[in-house]
Amino acid sequence: MSEVATHVSALERSDEEWNSRALAVLPGGVSRSLAAVFPLIPRIISGSGFMVTVETGRSWIDFNNNFTSLIHGHAHQPTVDAAVQAIRTGACFGATTQIEIEYSEYLVSRIGWTEQIRFSNSGTEAVMVAMRLARGVTGRNLIVLQSPAYHGGADAALPSVGESLMNGVAHSARLETVTIPVGNKEALQYIMDSRGSEIAGIVLDLMPERAGGNPLDRSYVDLARQLTTQHGAKLIVDEVVSFRQFVRGMAVDYFHIEPDIMVIGKIIGGGFAVGAVVGRTEIMSAFDPREEKPVFHGGTFSGNPVTMAAGGATMRYFEQSDISRLNDLSDEFRSLLRPRLQPLGVDILGTGSLSKMVNLSPKPGAGWQRDIFRALIDREILTTPSLRFALSTPMDIGIIIESVDRIADGVRAVVNN
Ligand SMILES: Cc1ncc(COP(=O)(O)O)c(C=O)c1O
Repeated sequence: MSEVATHVSALERSDEEWNSRALAVLPGGVSRSLAAVFPLIPRIISGSGFMVTVETGRSWIDFNNNFTSLIHGHAHQPTVDAAVQAIRTGACFGATTQIEIEYSEYLVSRIGWTEQIRFSNSGTEAVMVAMRLARGVTGRNLIVLQSPAYHGGADAALPSVGESLMNGVAHSARLETVTIPVGNKEALQYIMDSRGSEIAGIVLDLMPERAGGNPLDRSYVDLARQLTTQHGAKLIVDEVVSFRQFVRGMAVDYFHIEPDIMVIGKIIGGGFAVGAVVGRTEIMSAFDPREEKPVFHGGTFSGNPVTMAAGGATMRYFEQSDISRLNDLSDEFRSLLRPRLQPLGVDILGTGSLSKMVNLSPKPGAGWQRDIFRALIDREILTTPSLRFALSTPMDIGIIIESVDRIADGVRAVVNN
């Protein structure tokens, strides 16, 4: 056997060994259900810019970007420097830090209409506490969810996904929420007319991936804004993912509405665990422990200095001109890819720097997402298992053209199989 062949077979053996070690110690080989893909894929060992290197020695172009949370790709130098500096001076403390105040000031003034922020450790936790805030300030219990949409893994948010994720979820989650079909104005009007006085809030993802990845209809969002105001309920927008699309978020910059409560996360942590609830002081002050009956929100690692430092460095390199450049590049990505995919019965939807592949025809059939995901891995393209493509700022037109060729080739291989 040649030296190269010996090396390759050693890497393959090592890949199989890591598969069985992962499956033995992690249920399904993963620490997060939505990242599970079977058969398992090789482990990523490092990343730089838009590339990741995996244990087999190969490099992939990364459109997954940790499920849309890395806007500058991997190891963005200013973010690394800021995080390392924060770790060197003490990773976390049991009291508020100056960097937490500075980053809070930056984010609330960037979004514009907001005045205060509460950091948490994930988007899941921020959605959960945003619902509690709406309940706390209205004294009501019912939350209206849209389906399909994903707002993280809290019991009270999972009914919006549907039955597939409900095993083990408290039955009360269904009793305390009402789920309506996303974008259905009649359903929205009906629920607000019939139960308006019980409703604490409506949760909206303005661009729900599970509903196809395009922005919601403007008239639907306007109706949600109007009906929540009319009935004294709170409009909670979940911009955990969509905050990357516009400098102040989609609610203000795309839909031209001001929500009551906004939830952000993902990119604002610069690669570290994060989530946050933002809003006007009038509502956010309910978290103030000096209130007579404050809304509780804890979290040992909330406002963690490393996250604050990394998030601040990331966001300061992602202002209007960076966002516009990335969104234009993503438009180019979709317009190059679309004519190559449509004849195959597949389309690419989305706006801004987020795109989503959807199936237009019975072919490819059941399991098509998994098959395309795998075909793209074979062509050294990493996306999410649901085929969402999140661009990152290190990408340029050259890498987009190369990626479009590989993606179209992967989809053709699946469809023609
Ligand atoms: C729209 C939306 N909201 C909330 C969440 C939950 O965020 P996290 O995974 O940080 O808990 C996600 C996660 O993907 C999401 O897509």
